[in-house]
Amino acid sequence: MATEADLGSGPVTKPDPEQTEGYGRFLRNQVFTSNPPLHQPYRNLLVRQLLPRNILRFAPAAARLAQELVEECAGRDRTDFSREFAGRFVTRFWAEQLGLSSDQAAHVQHLMEQMSLTFLLTRTPEQSQRLFSAAATYMDVVGEAVRKAWSDGGNALLDDMAAELTTIDMEGKPEDIGSLVASNFFDGFHTIGVAIENVVFRILSDGTALEQVRADPALVTSAFYEGTRLESPLMLSQRLTLQDVEYNGVSVPAGTPVLMMWAAANRDPEVFDDPDSYRLTRQIQHGATFGGGVHLCPGRNVARMLTEIAVTALTAPDVDIALVGDDHEWAAHSLMRQLTALPVTIRRVHR
Ligand code: HEM
Repeated sequence: MATEADLGSGPVTKPDPEQTEGYGRFLRNQVFTSNPPLHQPYRNLLVRQLLPRNILRFAPAAARLAQELVEECAGRDRTDFSREFAGRFVTRFWAEQLGLSSDQAAHVQHLMEQMSLTFLLTRTPEQSQRLFSAAATYMDVVGEAVRKAWSDGGNALLDDMAAELTTIDMEGKPEDIGSLVASNFFDGFHTIGVAIENVVFRILSDGTALEQVRADPALVTSAFYEGTRLESPLMLSQRLTLQDVEYNGVSVPAGTPVLMMWAAANRDPEVFDDPDSYRLTRQIQHGATFGGGVHLCPGRNVARMLTEIAVTALTAPDVDIALVGDDHEWAAHSLMRQLTALPVTIRRVHR
């Protein structure tokens, strides 16, 4: 299904399996795409590593990287926020944790732009080609770097995941630590960057939010929840029922495609008062940004931590940040709520 999103008036042509080999490896090794009985133990491996108490050890590195990027951006007339701040921040962060060099981080960031074609509802054959080829390179670059970092030793995150992987004795598990990391940390390299961008966009578009957050830094948490609620990065996902289910009196036979609209649930008027309004004083509710139930996103805590660290650095008293222009477009025909561009100015000031 994932390889057949091509636009075209004729019959759907199945791509050559050689072309989709790397994209297949990327999808096949994910927790996201695994079914029972593998799903639970494989998922637990990631959940444990990404528990709040385990990710706290990464906070100082994230804070340092955010400061370095503010410094880099403050030296420019204008910053392309998506590429030059958010994307760079998250790829540099994960590169450090997962044993990739800074050149490899830059390469992965570039590949993310091609791999985000995976979120398009339909693709031209040329876009599919770019996606398949970027996915193959991504799996190789990240997979090899991680395998090497692990065999060199001294990386606790990789050691723990590799040790736990050996305890899973089931068909379909990832071939090795390299494929495990590359397949499952894609959202770390990609989607957290989109979340940071959307949260910052909402703060800067609102007349008073920036001042509110500066005056009360505890509001960064509200800015994260409110920004990702209104601009949920992954707007929807689709799954297939594995067996007949009954839900709220509706019976759904096995094999039915079920579309879950996270972005719509996040604006449910029965849950959120005046749901379209942006309010940092709203009582925090988790909403549906990270899904729910057995597939609830294991990366949600680290996504929040990195976003809060980035927003804290950008709203510091000695930093000025503002939107350039007021014409902002969202990417069309995509499952990802992502701006096509977010130009900003970032400056150091003395207040
Ligand atoms: C802001 C960033 C992120 C957003 C908006 C997001 C969103 C989601 C959503 C909505 C789901 C549920 C999908 C479904 O039920 O079909 C999900 C699942 C998942 N996410 Fe995230 N995610 C983010 C970051 C991350 C990060 C940083 C990681 C890993 C480091 C990650 C790894 C996963 C995995 C492995 C699953 C599948 C879980 C399962 O099937 O049990 N995500 N994510």
